[in-house]
Amino acid sequence: MGADKTDAQALKRQVAQAALALLEDDAATLGVGTGSTVNAFIDALASCPGRVRSAVSSSQASSARLAAAGIAVRDLNEIDSLPLYIDGADEANAARQLIKGGGGALTREKILAAAARRFVCIIDASKLVPVLGAFPLPIEVIPMARNLIARELSARGGRPVWRRECVTDNGNHILDVHGWRIEDPPALERELNQLPGIVSVGLFAARPADLLLIGTAAGVERR
Ligand code: A5P
Repeated sequence: MGADKTDAQALKRQVAQAALALLEDDAATLGVGTGSTVNAFIDALASCPGRVRSAVSSSQASSARLAAAGIAVRDLNEIDSLPLYIDGADEANAARQLIKGGGGALTREKILAAAARRFVCIIDASKLVPVLGAFPLPIEVIPMARNLIARELSARGGRPVWRRECVTDNGNHILDVHGWRIEDPPALERELNQLPGIVSVGLFAARPADLLLIGTAAGVERR
């Protein structure tokens, strides 16, 4: 493993540890996202038994990791409120708008972000960008609409690439859209949400994070 990867892992562990301090009510169900930063967070939870008793998660992978850590995994339909949701991101800008879905869990992540009173995004400093779009934008599509949507995205100047190895937890496909510099994230999110066949767009702009916790070499920064 190269030095950069080792450093990024250390920053993920640092920011995951800092997120533990945000947990207040141990009786409340916690929203938990997906990805390597969230895995570090679940590992941190596992080392404090009883800190969180139950969680709803954005993926089967996170649910399995939570269960292995002794945390009861609940269905979102069983709970009336979700005070806090903690998740990572692939890119974040200064307005706390995000690109998510590198791990393929964007639809359930969007649902949990919408359900949560507070959405805290934990990232390492490499994820912070001036303009979203260098990371290809993941879009979950109904399989039969994949080529139709790909043409729509190409017509808008994007270069969609089908993530062939991936079927989402919802049984759908993912197109990763390269080549976009996303100057107006809410407008693009709104426009793409109108296309029949798109299940979710990995842009979290209409509902950005409420707080970014950023792991940096100088410590954890809050925005
Ligand atoms: C999962 O679908 C994603 O939205 C993740 O939150 C995102 O890909 C960040 O993952 P890492 O923490 O592994 O970078």
